[in-house]
Amino acid sequence: MAILKKKRETWGSKIGIIMAVAGSAIGLGNFLRFPVQAVQNGGGAFMIPYFISLFLLGIPLMWIEWTLGRYGGGFEHGTAPGIFHTLWQKNRFIKYFGVIGIFGPLVIFIYYTYIESWTLAYSFFSLVGKYRQITEQSQMQAFLRGFQGLEKNQYFASLLPAYVFFLITFILNIGVVYFGIRRGIERLAKWGMPVLLGCAVIILIRVFTLGAPDISKPTWNVNNGLGFLWNPNFNALKDAKVWLAAAGQIFFTLSVGIGVILTYASYLSYGDDVVLSGLSAVSTNEFAEIILGGSIVIPAAFVFFGPERIRDIAFSGAFNLGFVTMPLVIQKLPLSAIFGFLWFFLLFLAGITSSISLAQPAIAFLEDEFDIKREKAVSIFGIISFILCQPVIFLLNKGIVDELDFWGGTFSLVLFGTIETILFVWVFGMERAWEEIHRGAQLLVPKIYKFIIKYITPLFLFFILGFWFIQQGLPVIMMKGITSTMRFYVIITRVSLLILFFVLIFLVRTAWRRKRIIEERLR
Ligand code: ALA
Repeated sequence: MAILKKKRETWGSKIGIIMAVAGSAIGLGNFLRFPVQAVQNGGGAFMIPYFISLFLLGIPLMWIEWTLGRYGGGFEHGTAPGIFHTLWQKNRFIKYFGVIGIFGPLVIFIYYTYIESWTLAYSFFSLVGKYRQITEQSQMQAFLRGFQGLEKNQYFASLLPAYVFFLITFILNIGVVYFGIRRGIERLAKWGMPVLLGCAVIILIRVFTLGAPDISKPTWNVNNGLGFLWNPNFNALKDAKVWLAAAGQIFFTLSVGIGVILTYASYLSYGDDVVLSGLSAVSTNEFAEIILGGSIVIPAAFVFFGPERIRDIAFSGAFNLGFVTMPLVIQKLPLSAIFGFLWFFLLFLAGITSSISLAQPAIAFLEDEFDIKREKAVSIFGIISFILCQPVIFLLNKGIVDELDFWGGTFSLVLFGTIETILFVWVFGMERAWEEIHRGAQLLVPKIYKFIIKYITPLFLFFILGFWFIQQGLPVIMMKGITSTMRFYVIITRVSLLILFFVLIFLVRTAWRRKRIIEERLR
């Protein structure tokens, strides 16, 4: 039975936590990663594995994490080591598995914040017209490369502008978490989410009213753009890769398996609903992903680049689409400065409401397990993560981001999702789990989900873990396709990640020892 002590912070309102979790979920993944994944994996047919993954993995994991988080919060644990320990107290080692739930978000935070800072920079560049003269793809690419410090050119002489925007973004992130749950995270989510959705709707309306801007090319229109994205290629479903991509997108977009929802939910109170709230956060994310994310970049690019070039554009990846194609598209519109600003500012809001959630697990760990005050915990986190961000910034094209994304943003997610599900359902027990999910619930979970959560979700997770490991994991581990110059950086990154992981294990061990000593003294 969870005991609610009043020491930890709590959310100020139900809408506050829903907005915060939705904010964590709605990120760059919704507006850039999703449309690219859909185009590359069967168009409309991609939505079949996508929805299957949503109903069999995404929604169950969302409920599991909300419930586990609230349960752990009752024992004053806001991160996986403590939560896993309360679930299986007899097992001395289970808390160490929880380290993945701090390691994953920290690793994602390291590169996510830097990419997020580009969106802030580009919203500024849009307003001041810094790339106004550029009309060609190759020039816009040079602009991006110059900004990233990968080359010196007529647009940028150094990395300094990028670094300044990184500093601003980093300070904003740290500032928000410094103010804590209610005054920082909740406050930002409550105004940031409506503004984000408002910006996205304005851009969506603009895209839908584009018609066919070039009268000599009437087929280059929004309808055909939507058709390009959504016309299904059912043959794609025979490929296991497509199913893995769909499951991967569900994990990434909902922020499940990362550890952040556990932490957010740990600030709930004993009888707070998790069923309806979790579902509301999922629905908000899916609206932002499928309706908004699915209707902006690809149709807009189609209208201006036509059916021949769209394929290359879509296959050139999410960054290219966001930072090269979209600025070019927006340049062609009247009021381009305003629309450019709106597009990048919406990405920035989507980014920051996600990155603050990635920061919170490490901070909560220091607060809960070492009794460190929030201000000090945030300062420690700030200094360490700032140092860890530097290689990403200064060695951008050396394969470090891909490594961090693989270990922190892919591998950890699926592994962590599998561990927490098994623990919740098979160790804690399905009957207790079902009861715990429904405590304070404003909606009954359909009975079929008892079966799904107990059998289908874990099986599905094992299946994905196995398939994914063979298809993508092994080639990455064996460094296939990595050039010899990059190999050095990749190995250094891996060693550093391993060290980081063991430092976290050591911290967990120290925290538990410390607690034991305090308890013995009190006896
Ligand atoms: N869920 C976040 C995103 O979609 C991480 O970007």
